[in-house]
Amino acid sequence: MAVVVTNANAPAFEAKMTVYVFICVMIAAVGGLIFGYDIGISGGVTAMDDFLKEFFPAVWERKRHVHENNYCKYDNQFLQLFTSSLYLAALVASFVASAICSKLGRKPTMQFASIFFLIGVGLTAGAVNLVMLIIGRLFLGFGVGFGNQAVPLFLSEIAPAQLRGGLNIVFQLMVTIGILIANIVNYFTATVHPHGWRIALGGAGIPAVILLFGSLLIIETPTSLIERNKNEEGKEALRKIRGVDDINDEYESIVHACDIARQVKDPYRKLLKPASRPPLVIGMLLQFFQQFTGINAIMFYAPVLFQTVGFGSNAALLSAVVTGTINVLSTFVGIYLVDRTGRRFLLLQSSVHMLICHLIIGSILAKDLGVTGTLGRAQALVVVIFVCVYVMGFAWSWGPLGWLIPSETFPLETRSAGFAVAVSCNMFFTFLIAQAFLSMLCGMRYGIFFFFAGWIIVMGLFALFFIPETKGIAIDDMRESVWKPHWFWKRYMLAEDDHPDVEKRSA
Ligand code: BGC
Repeated sequence: MAVVVTNANAPAFEAKMTVYVFICVMIAAVGGLIFGYDIGISGGVTAMDDFLKEFFPAVWERKRHVHENNYCKYDNQFLQLFTSSLYLAALVASFVASAICSKLGRKPTMQFASIFFLIGVGLTAGAVNLVMLIIGRLFLGFGVGFGNQAVPLFLSEIAPAQLRGGLNIVFQLMVTIGILIANIVNYFTATVHPHGWRIALGGAGIPAVILLFGSLLIIETPTSLIERNKNEEGKEALRKIRGVDDINDEYESIVHACDIARQVKDPYRKLLKPASRPPLVIGMLLQFFQQFTGINAIMFYAPVLFQTVGFGSNAALLSAVVTGTINVLSTFVGIYLVDRTGRRFLLLQSSVHMLICHLIIGSILAKDLGVTGTLGRAQALVVVIFVCVYVMGFAWSWGPLGWLIPSETFPLETRSAGFAVAVSCNMFFTFLIAQAFLSMLCGMRYGIFFFFAGWIIVMGLFALFFIPETKGIAIDDMRESVWKPHWFWKRYMLAEDDHPDVEKRSA
């Protein structure tokens, strides 16, 4: 497999940001929107009585006796499976998607994604029993696995080099917009009885149709075509998207990049070599840390969480709309700052920031919300405010950087394989949190916030000592400028026989 993302900071080839590229980017990014919609919709739907009555009557019964135990009313393995099954399917699918992406191209991979999404939407919105519901979620998960592998690669390859960083975060921006739309849909459909939840789940059909028809219009990336030996088509595609006549230099550079990448027969084996360790370890741990900030405990279960601390059903959904809006707006802050202050500043600042929020929320719940009591209005408001402040910190740091850093630190020959590993790790840890959160909330109660706080200390220290600054460094210069001088990672850089040129010479 030799998927190639070409050099981001290499000589700036002549290129215009054409209308055509803009349209392609918008259509592809709809994949991020669907991912976000799926993240956001589950929490709202699982807080709807009509939905619980139909599929999880035991949870509904327990919820009616709210005073039994605040933290445990939603604890049910099947309810959690509803949310988490999607991520399990996405995890498996991302490896299949990575192979299809290189064998058939990015465009068909996105088309597959939209078909999976449509089947999933049909099954979940029309579900008449739990099995149908879960199978529907699995299809949605296949869609997410295919979409999340193909879309970021597509965006990187289609963008003019100078805009690649910003365009990468457009994916995260669309994820946050998807979450927000889902929160708004939840808010309105919660009052539609008895089928509001069907409308909410069916809503994902709209972007899925846009992606399906849109992906017929978009172009295959030049890199993907050249990589599959369709050089003339690749050249034509490049001319079309760049909007300039002289594309020869860029064309030659893609051909060269594909040649090097082809020498690596098995990128996954190459990933196991010592020289791949720094980006691999960082790329995988970033996903673990991103999820152990506790973000998805908030994102999936915000309405449930707010109800748990004493908001009524509708007030809870409204609070989730507020957190969703803050998530979107704060992502713009990330886009603005990431190439100015650098990645490390954002990671470190937000670690302290999120740590304080978790400690405050945990302390209020510990002090004021007994096992069965409810929070006073003032305390509940403070909880919502600190959840919002926490989301801000995540949205300009560990959120987008969890995707950006793995996409920029692997050398060309392992970039796609390394990215697939990162995507599937992300899905695995998302699955873990989705599956475990409600039980953890029940078992640890307010302690869950201290649990995440503990992990935030660990990740802050990891960022401080082990994540180097990559701002402004040429994407193919990481080895020389970042890893070799690094106090810790330099030890893995001594094995020169890992270098592709050496493989070539000895071949
Ligand atoms: C994460 C998701 C999360 C979202 C929140 C993404 O970067 O991967 O798990 O729900 O950010 O905005």
